[in-house]
Amino acid sequence: MSDYAVFGHPIAHSLSPRIHALFGLQSGIPLNYAAIDAPPGALAASLAKFAADGGRGANITLPLKQDAFALSAELSDFARRAGAVNTLSWRDDGSWRGDNTDGTGLTRDLTERHQLDLRERRSLLLGAGGAARAAAHALLDAGIGELVIVNRSPERADALMDSIGNPARVRTRYWADLANCGNFSLVVNATSAGIAREKLALPFNIVAPRALCYDLSYGTAAFGFLAWARAARAGRALDGLGMLIEQAAESFQIWHGVRPQTDPVYAELRSELPLLASD
Ligand code: ATR
Repeated sequence: MSDYAVFGHPIAHSLSPRIHALFGLQSGIPLNYAAIDAPPGALAASLAKFAADGGRGANITLPLKQDAFALSAELSDFARRAGAVNTLSWRDDGSWRGDNTDGTGLTRDLTERHQLDLRERRSLLLGAGGAARAAAHALLDAGIGELVIVNRSPERADALMDSIGNPARVRTRYWADLANCGNFSLVVNATSAGIAREKLALPFNIVAPRALCYDLSYGTAAFGFLAWARAARAGRALDGLGMLIEQAAESFQIWHGVRPQTDPVYAELRSELPLLASD
């Protein structure tokens, strides 16, 4: 029986139990945090059992963030805008409140840990799923310039653009036309291609001099994109380990009312991960 857990599919290799255990040790909060495999379609039943057994908070990861959104009785403003939930908190009335801490996690990692200025950057977002939705809103909130969204299925990119409702700053292009889109000072990979061990077809000329390339995933899943970014002579090529830890810290604060120190946890996990990110 656990009070907290991460739900996803697959979930065996998730770092979240480790991160929350380190936060708990650091802040003197004893907690019991598990990893629960929930195939698509099984989240509602799995969460109901978890709550009945005493579960009080859940992180939700791939591919269940849109399902968690649908199961939330109350939503934070950012979760509503993103259409995706990664943090659930059990309420006294027996329902879940849904938050999305991915967006803050991404911008905190970029602007606070890596001290990067995002303002006015012409940006390319690859992908239009749950992770991409949170990234799009967070980057626009952080003041980037134009945002171009490209997705393998173009209709999903159009749906994301329409849901953002900011035609002056956001547009979509076809993947096949990428080489004719000019260059970008920020390129964010929010696809799950790396997790599926699939290679993205990306031209080098989309990377502006000194550009920042960022993969929302980490470890071996980010290798293909980061190797491409290096070959395209990006100024920085970063994986999403810092974002993972920052979004976890936000969730921890929602549940326990304490903001953990993320830098020691980042240093510990970074030293263990196979390294391809330029940190
Ligand atoms: P997540 O929560 O990580 O965003 P998701 O909602 O399943 O997961 O979205 C996965 C994203 O990766 C989608 O944008 C998907 O493109 P489609 O909408 O066309 O499915 C993208 N993706 C997955 N594999 C890909 C590949 N091999 N090449 C390009 N894009 C890929």
